[in-house]
Amino acid sequence: MAFYRRKKGCSQVSGFTRNEAAAKVMVALDKPDADAALRLASQLQGAGCWMKVGMELFYAAGPSVVRELKSRGFRVFLDLKMHDIPNTVRGGARSIARLGVDLFNVHAAGGKAMMSAAMDGVREAVEAGDAGQAPIVIAVTQLTSTSEAVLRDEIGIASSVEEAVVRYARLAKEAGLQGVVASPLEVVSVKQACGSAFVTVTPGIRPKGADLGDQSRVATPGDAVRMGTDYLVIGRAITSAADPAQALDTILKEMTGA
Ligand code: C5P
Repeated sequence: MAFYRRKKGCSQVSGFTRNEAAAKVMVALDKPDADAALRLASQLQGAGCWMKVGMELFYAAGPSVVRELKSRGFRVFLDLKMHDIPNTVRGGARSIARLGVDLFNVHAAGGKAMMSAAMDGVREAVEAGDAGQAPIVIAVTQLTSTSEAVLRDEIGIASSVEEAVVRYARLAKEAGLQGVVASPLEVVSVKQACGSAFVTVTPGIRPKGADLGDQSRVATPGDAVRMGTDYLVIGRAITSAADPAQALDTILKEMTGA
């Protein structure tokens, strides 16, 4: 079965193999310590998916857990969502680039100078020979837990979520970043605004019938793929399953239409 990837209003058929689908999945290793995280990683070894290290794990286990995942052959997304003054973010980006992660993020709300500073930090680490390949740097637009009501009533942004996401995506592109974190529901608009090569990383993935939890703007794995997302961030649907490898397998089947 094939997928329909919507770009610029037209439909394009594009089929994925199981390996291609797995390479699009970033498993959120939201675990309290390295042991729990690496146990889960062992269960998914060889599946071909990415590992996402976020605040819970990194603040507990530090850089060593990232190095261990890299030594086991995983591609790693370090999800620390930096948001600080440009000079601090530049230094943070330098340290992250030295760590050898494949992708990391900053908040678009930090502004263009802050995002550019992250790129400067990466460049400095690479030029100094401290980092191998430069990681992909992307910007968080609006958290997938943020609803239109929260955006308007609490954050004070009067535009729709989609408009706010696209505005941040354009800003990130102007700052030299390669993509954004957004919900699958905004992928078509982001690609239209920033081009098909602009990377979209989408949390808020919920298989049919799964608990929404704290997420607000969600889509199923199949729908996310149909909307043209590049990477699907999936946490609890895999990590809280009795058999995570089986849960991943079911998701990959949905993504490939098998
Ligand atoms: O368990 P669940 O699939 O909801 O996990 C989503 C993961 O994606 C979490 O690790 C969360 O921190 C992350 N994330 C998100 N929304 C963003 C950026 C990252 O949910 N905008």
